[in-house]
Amino acid sequence: MASLVRRAAAALLGITAVSAATTYSIDSDDAIKQTSASLAYDLMTYYKGNQSGQTPGILPGPPPAGDYYWWEGGAMWGAMIDYWHLTGDDTYNEEIKQALLWQVGPNQDYMPPNVTASLGNDDQGFWGMTAMQAAEENFPNPPKDQPQWLALAQGVFNTQADPNRHDKTCNGGLRWQIPFSNNGYDYKNSIANGCFFNLGARLARYTGNQSYADWAEKTWDWVVGVGFMDDKYNIYDGAHVQSNCTDINRAQFSYNNGVYLLGAAHMYNYTNGSDIWRKRTEDLLNATLETFFPNHIAFEISCEQHMTCTTDMLSFKGYVARWISTATTIAPFMADKALPILRDSAAAAIKTCTGGSNQRACGFSWSTGAFDGSTGGGAADERLGRRVESKPPLTNSTGGTSGGNYNAGIGGDDFTGHTAPITAGDKAGAAILTILLLGGAASLFGWMSAGV
Ligand SMILES: *[C@@H]1O[C@H](CO)[C@@H](O)[C@H](O)[C@H]1NC(C)=O
Ligand SMILES: *[C@@H]1O[C@H](CO)[C@@H](O)[C@H](O)[C@H]1NC(C)=O
Ligand SMILES: *[C@@H]1O[C@H](CO)[C@@H](O)[C@H](O)[C@H]1NC(C)=O
Ligand SMILES: *[C@@H]1O[C@H](CO)[C@@H](O)[C@H](O)[C@H]1NC(C)=O
Ligand SMILES: *[C@@H]1O[C@H](CO)[C@@H](O)[C@H](O)[C@H]1NC(C)=O
Ligand SMILES: *[C@@H]1O[C@H](CO)[C@@H](O)[C@H](O)[C@H]1NC(C)=O
Ligand SMILES: *[C@@H]1O[C@H](CO)[C@@H](O)[C@H](O)[C@H]1NC(C)=O
Ligand SMILES: *[C@@H]1O[C@H](CO)[C@@H](O)[C@H](O)[C@H]1NC(C)=O
Repeated sequence: MASLVRRAAAALLGITAVSAATTYSIDSDDAIKQTSASLAYDLMTYYKGNQSGQTPGILPGPPPAGDYYWWEGGAMWGAMIDYWHLTGDDTYNEEIKQALLWQVGPNQDYMPPNVTASLGNDDQGFWGMTAMQAAEENFPNPPKDQPQWLALAQGVFNTQADPNRHDKTCNGGLRWQIPFSNNGYDYKNSIANGCFFNLGARLARYTGNQSYADWAEKTWDWVVGVGFMDDKYNIYDGAHVQSNCTDINRAQFSYNNGVYLLGAAHMYNYTNGSDIWRKRTEDLLNATLETFFPNHIAFEISCEQHMTCTTDMLSFKGYVARWISTATTIAPFMADKALPILRDSAAAAIKTCTGGSNQRACGFSWSTGAFDGSTGGGAADERLGRRVESKPPLTNSTGGTSGGNYNAGIGGDDFTGHTAPITAGDKAGAAILTILLLGGAASLFGWMSAGV
């Protein structure tokens, strides 16, 4: 399979070297693999971290040095690990491994000193979730003398569970930023707490250890209690501690729904299908599809209409697609409702691409332009109705081999030498669009694995 994908990538690249455009397709499993291979290749052309003099793990940045923030590197490797996991193409595995290990920081918890001036719990959380994914997908383990994927995820979790990061304002919860001198230290938000919730739920399922599940429960309850998630399962951005979190910014971003939905699906699975987590998962799925997938096409409601999305915001829809797709493998009741919508959304997305190695030719607004919405409605497409292997995230008792450490990260959350916050421009970057598209394409493997 790996060599097939490599050949497909080479073929696509060969074509694009001489012709203007190649049209992407999702009409068969091979076509999805070829599309994904091309997107993965394109994405890696933006990555310079393995070249001499460059920093492994990160995309060019952070602004103003380049377009991309540190966390986007962590997010990108999640998409690339999924790419390997779903296609079997290991072309990029060595670079992925080098990247994930380079950025661990001195305490092996994804807090490298280079980035503390802008380090948020969400930034650290994204790298932690990618390490968790590496464990869940049995991504090749690092050498024994290096930190292991599971231990890295535990390191991130433990630093975030530390009492240092939880104060009494707003009745608890994590702040957005970690160092007190950073802009945004006075803000508590859904994404920081969502990453922590997500990681707790996944560690609970992976290790079987209830302490992680307790934290996940507690975090969910806090987010609901403080009003960041309302009774209609709308998830709002966050609020300031000065107001005891009553000045809620009601902007909604799709990655919040994605991060909580994947966590809720893990809690559903961890609790052997409990009623409470089934209801939460189901309700949140309904709300997510209704809010962010109008006409079955992913839409970033807070910024897409007037195209005021920042570089960060451009990537959100890609995570949601991937995470919903993964969630359906452990909360199978989601599949019938979610997967046809992901399929329609991805079909719309690739219609905005002219294909080839230049992803600048792909669009962000999938609901406009070339796509006419005619495949909407979620009717199963017979051509795609074949079954491929479903690949739920593994656990320590179902084949996961990553080594853990319950004490990882403990005692290292100590900042000295705070520096001034970075202020940065919001230039849209082509790599982000490619991460977004690769997320959309990867979600299709879930659609296929549902079979018909
Ligand atoms: C960086 O990665 C690319 C793509 O896999 C590879 O062709 C190249 O040899 C790597 N460069 C270094 C210096 O490792
Ligand atoms: C920190 O920055 C220096 C200088 O750019 C670089 O050499 C080093 O690799 C970076 N460390 C990490 C963990 O990114
Ligand atoms: C702050 O808000 C929480 C609910 O989020 C509430 O329990 C607490 O009493 C409030 N504290 C103050 C000082 O108003
Ligand atoms: C789920 O079921 C298994 C097998 O019956 C049991 O060992 C485990 O404790 C259950 N988990 C929870 C969280 O109830
Ligand atoms: C979710 O939506 C479906 C219809 O799309 C409906 O049948 C179901 O009852 C809804 N679930 C909840 C919990 O609202
Ligand atoms: C939990 O996930 C496994 C796949 O790892 C799946 O077989 C099982 O049915 C799921 N449990 C529930 C209650 O849906
Ligand atoms: C995973 O399971 C193995 C074998 O049962 C055990 O030795 C190991 O300690 C477990 N690791 C974790 C993190 O629970
Ligand atoms: C479960 O996790 C907690 C916290 O990480 C740890 O202190 C405890 O030893 C673990 N329990 C078991 C049975 O491994």
